[in-house]
Amino acid sequence: MTSINIDSLTITYGDNTVISGLDLNIQDGEFFTLLGPSGCGKTTLLRTIAGFITPASGSIKFGDRDVTSIPTHKRNIGMVFQDYALFPDKTVNTNVAYGLKARKVPKSEIPARIEEALDRVGMGGFGDRLPGALSGGQRQRVALARALVIRPSVLLMDEPLSNLDTKLRIQIRESIAELQRELGITTVFVTHDQEEALAMSDRIALFKTGRIEQLGGPTDIYQSPVSSYAADFIGAANVLPITVPDGVSSREGESVTVAFGTQRLNGVSRSLIVPGDGFAVARPEHLTLAAKDAAVPAGVNAVPGKVLYEQYLGRVRQYRVALSNGEEIHISELVDGPGFPAHSDVQVHFPETKTLVMAS
Ligand SMILES: Nc1ncnc2c1ncn2[C@@H]1O[C@H](COP(=O)(O)OP(=O)(O)O)[C@@H](O)[C@H]1O
Ligand SMILES: [Mg+2]
Repeated sequence: MTSINIDSLTITYGDNTVISGLDLNIQDGEFFTLLGPSGCGKTTLLRTIAGFITPASGSIKFGDRDVTSIPTHKRNIGMVFQDYALFPDKTVNTNVAYGLKARKVPKSEIPARIEEALDRVGMGGFGDRLPGALSGGQRQRVALARALVIRPSVLLMDEPLSNLDTKLRIQIRESIAELQRELGITTVFVTHDQEEALAMSDRIALFKTGRIEQLGGPTDIYQSPVSSYAADFIGAANVLPITVPDGVSSREGESVTVAFGTQRLNGVSRSLIVPGDGFAVARPEHLTLAAKDAAVPAGVNAVPGKVLYEQYLGRVRQYRVALSNGEEIHISELVDGPGFPAHSDVQVHFPETKTLVMAS
């Protein structure tokens, strides 16, 4: 049973404080992702969990065991980093077996464990190759097999898929997620790729310069961003400037009416809303287009606009629309009927429950 419990963790490089007073609990068996743009502190936090960096203050526990000052090799962690080094003069089998031998797994079990691990990452039959005779993607898969085969109590991965091409990346991320669930290893996965995070994780911590902006499951993070930063970083989002009129206030989860240019928009508050500037966020796939004179259904905001650009992508039709107040927005509709060509006068429908209002 290995939960990871981080308490008041502060990590510095000299005078530069990268992470300050971080509290975070990762559950036993969880696939937990640290997501955020380059430089926000993901690698620093992961390397501190691994024991390569000693925090300035605070503690890290694996379950009840305080590992803050325990060296890396005594933490029973498996690691995969972006440029994981395999022993170049040893075969794939020997590379994968390395951790098993160090852990004194009975010799008779080793070949089956290696074969299973290699099969899982799509590398069955490559056991006798040397790393130099493998492509970059294949080497990364061997590195993964080597980390996973030891059944570590904690698996730490730092952007392990970033060097792979799209097709391989999707295949391997499925293998990793599947294997992680089967073995139940508590996993901390670092990525800057939001789709990877959504696809693989039980929970995601979205970072913004060393602190957690939003923490939640993929659905939560995608459907209910807490800020324009979160909405913008995860998936496509229309982030529209709005004004909260004098005398209007509302709490998280309540409905609220705000000014969007000369229009009014009814939406749901994602934070405490008080008079002043703010944002309304709506995902492209939650918006629909209707003819200029069409009746407006209940529970929908209708904003007039003109189609600037329309493209047909088979499953969906995408539009860029100039709204009457000058804002441009993106809409993605499942294809059903002929759609609206460029220059059409239209109304854009924003369902009220999908129009999220947040403070700026
Ligand atoms: N060894 C180091 N010495 C000094 N500063 C560092 C070092 N490693 C990272 N940093 C700084 O710490 C911040 C976080 O970096 P990092 O954890 O690598 O971010 P990420 O993995 O999210 O891209 C950055 O501002 C980076 O410049
Ligand atoms: Mg990094």
